Amino acid sequence: MILKGKKGIIFGALNDQSIAWKVAEFCKAEGAEIVLTNAPVAFRLGTIKELAKKLDAQVISCDATKVEDLDNLIAKSQEILGGKLDFVLHSIGMSINIRKGKHYTELNYDWMQQTFDISAISFHKLMQSLWKADAMNEWGSILALSYIAAQRVFPHYSEMAESKALLESFARSFGYHFGMRNKVRVNTVSQSPTVTTAGSGIKGFDEFLNYAAKMSPLGNAPAEDCARYCVSMFSDYTRYVTLQNLYHDGGFSNMGMSGLMMELGE
Ligand SMILES: NC(=O)c1ccc[n+]([C@@H]2O[C@H](COP(=O)([O-])OP(=O)(O)OC[C@H]3O[C@@H](n4cnc5c(N)ncnc54)[C@H](O)[C@@H]3O)[C@@H](O)[C@H]2O)c1
Repeated sequence: MILKGKKGIIFGALNDQSIAWKVAEFCKAEGAEIVLTNAPVAFRLGTIKELAKKLDAQVISCDATKVEDLDNLIAKSQEILGGKLDFVLHSIGMSINIRKGKHYTELNYDWMQQTFDISAISFHKLMQSLWKADAMNEWGSILALSYIAAQRVFPHYSEMAESKALLESFARSFGYHFGMRNKVRVNTVSQSPTVTTAGSGIKGFDEFLNYAAKMSPLGNAPAEDCARYCVSMFSDYTRYVTLQNLYHDGGFSNMGMSGLMMELGE
């Protein structure tokens, strides 16, 4: 029960494959009280209401690119949970150019801006809304999910690479202000490739999943373990970890070559 007495908002549970879905389940199991949220379209396409019923949690619709939606979500969540928040998970990502099959050398810039807005600027908007409402308790924890394409080239990840670089930078920059004012920490977790709706949208995802598994000494980190890690980041056991991009990837980020990959080349 390492989250007993803690209250939080979880963005991004679309269906039972979503990383946020598992985070919500583990948070509840560890004693937290949560509010679930997702974009209006996700209520039609996904099964978030099933999760809300299962966890006895309230669910509030919020398009994370709209400041008025975020303000409303933050105000209502505090009413529902009966006070300020201890943790928030941003688990949101979507690329319009990838979805429309545009090659990286032919990107549409209006779509690129939408991608950045959904996948990265929404994180700044969320933090600014939390900041203005003074909605975080001292020693609270704000977390977003990232991917190593922010640092290295993965051609099919396209404009999502820049989205993640921006997301990680927002975590550091806003994390400074939150730390100074409220002792709130802000981090990103850089997760292994994972089979979800967003993940499977990347071209060549299955081959890529296979490659990452062979390169990582522990194999790819499953969504459930990512959820466990997020819970630890919301708990009091990680109070002085802030401004970090934390790799949760079975060791992939520090590898150059692995025995399994060498065998394939023989
Ligand atoms: N799946 C992977 O391989 C992988 C690896 C590393 C990081 N991540 C990151 O994990 C996070 C969660 O993705 P996932 O893999 O669980 O996939 P997912 O498709 O289950 O989750 C993505 C979520 O973003 C939500 N979303 C999209 N537009 C939104 C908007 N305007 N407002 C609010 N919510 C919106 C979707 O409704 C969905 O719930 C993303 O940031 C993703 O980039 C995923």
